[in-house]
Amino acid sequence: MSQKKVILTGDRPTGKLHLGHYVGSLRSRVELQSDHEQYVMIADAQALTDHYDNPQKVHDNVLEVAIDYLSVGIDPKQTTIFIQSMVPEIHELAMYFLNLVTWNRLKHNPTVKAEINQKGFGDAIPAGFMTYPVFQAADIAAFHADLVPVGDDQRPMIEQTNEIVRSFNRIYGQEVLREVEGLYPKVARLPGIDGSAKMSKTMGNGISLSEDPKSVMKKAKKMYSDPNHTNIDDPGQVDGNPVFIYLDCFCQDHDKLEELKAHYARGGLGDGTVKKYLGEVLVEFLEPIQTRRAQLEQDKGEVLRILEKGTLAARERAAKTLALVKEAMHLRYF
Ligand code: TRP
Repeated sequence: MSQKKVILTGDRPTGKLHLGHYVGSLRSRVELQSDHEQYVMIADAQALTDHYDNPQKVHDNVLEVAIDYLSVGIDPKQTTIFIQSMVPEIHELAMYFLNLVTWNRLKHNPTVKAEINQKGFGDAIPAGFMTYPVFQAADIAAFHADLVPVGDDQRPMIEQTNEIVRSFNRIYGQEVLREVEGLYPKVARLPGIDGSAKMSKTMGNGISLSEDPKSVMKKAKKMYSDPNHTNIDDPGQVDGNPVFIYLDCFCQDHDKLEELKAHYARGGLGDGTVKKYLGEVLVEFLEPIQTRRAQLEQDKGEVLRILEKGTLAARERAAKTLALVKEAMHLRYF
């Protein structure tokens, strides 16, 4: 058996993945896969907690997200990609975890609170939604994960997981489950093209990995930049300017970028010029990803085979954990 550290992470399949996902998590998954035992989960069951009335959307996006993963270079030979709902052991584990969390604690999860407001549930919050952090703890614990690379917004989920793991080990004994460490992106998160703090599917302010070049150029031209830079000859603000944040993430020509920044800061460089350059940088970055996507779209059978194989492997792993858990809980009768 390998001594590699275990990584578990995942996404809700509610839309195609975008550049924010790339910067926030996809990139590090590609980097980490060679020297870790990595599991990447397509969290369709979690997606249903707020899309229960739209199963077709979730279903269709499972394949889209899988294709996104493979297109950016997540390698099924090194990473186990699987579908959450097809690993029922996770859900059984979550059921036992539910006893270890109070309702009050769930209500105070900051991410859940923010999402409740954003989704406008009002008083009609599905119980499945309120409890999804517990299921997420089970996602993680089922694989004895050491590391969970996620965005900053997922910090409360990691805390919640460790609280549950500690309770479990205290009550049911020994070191059955393992505490986990969140791995957060070093760089600031990618803002939306409208300048808002986060690129998000729901807000429609993103550039997807499968966005066609024309649309990428159009969106780059529309990007929010320094609102006070109305006169080309005036100095512009580089720090915190989304156009430059994007260029910092995607431009490979560092000398040219430094030159552009200096020119923009001193005045004389128009936003139109910088944005056009950004568009070209993004189109170039996306090109190989989109070439791979086009190939995979021609061979969806292969994508499904990869998912099936990954899901079988994930099930085996989760079943082992569940057996240990049930043993510790005195749930073995014959
Ligand atoms: N909650 C994560 C998101 O919204 C998706 C997710 C589900 C996840 N289960 C997970 C992430 C387990 C990390 C580990 O993006």
